[in-house]
Amino acid sequence: MRIFLDTANIEQIKQGVRLGVVSGVTTNPTLIVKEGHRDYKAVVKEICAIVPGPVSVEVVVEGVTAMLEQAKEIASWATNVVIKIPATAEGLEVTSVLAKEQIKVNMTLCFSVNQALLASLAGASYVSPFVGRLDDIGNDGMSLVEDIVDIYKNYNLTTKVIAASIRHPQHCIIAAKAGAHIATVPYQVLTQMIKHPLTDIGIERFFCDWRRVSDDT
Ligand code: G3P
Repeated sequence: MRIFLDTANIEQIKQGVRLGVVSGVTTNPTLIVKEGHRDYKAVVKEICAIVPGPVSVEVVVEGVTAMLEQAKEIASWATNVVIKIPATAEGLEVTSVLAKEQIKVNMTLCFSVNQALLASLAGASYVSPFVGRLDDIGNDGMSLVEDIVDIYKNYNLTTKVIAASIRHPQHCIIAAKAGAHIATVPYQVLTQMIKHPLTDIGIERFFCDWRRVSDDT
């Protein structure tokens, strides 16, 4: 399973890439605003230049014509841009046009297997089931990921499943077991994935023992 960062924070993206484990980024309007970015184009171009892989960028207009126009504009900003389109009827129509023009789409705000199936049929390159938001309303978000992966396998559908709205490391483990192609994680979850107290204790003990021997010689 690949790891994307779900953030518009430039420092976090740079650090994730430096670690060698982050191969893409997903953003959304909330994440962009949270970082105080005012120039959409400038920040998208900056992120795309840092990341060695797909960067999902959401359209922020409504209506098929306006979405198509903005999607094409955003797609021209960098070669690794993927356009995030919401899983609606209009979104499917936009996706099918963009897919025919070889513009990659990440169908976002996916909350059901049917939405994911339709996303793939419309030509989306990625689909993003929002796990945490389903958990928030008492559903089992990760079972949606499992179902989408299974159903795509049944029909050899090539749309990649991005487990999104990830809230904690356990989500990543379950997504990986379910066969999600990608988990897009907040930076904090990435750091939680790395950390283990026994690793820290082990390092301290090794250094302590090493220093004792070095001091004796
Ligand atoms: O990738 C989707 C993500 O940005 C939504 O996460 O935590 O706002 O549900 P959250």
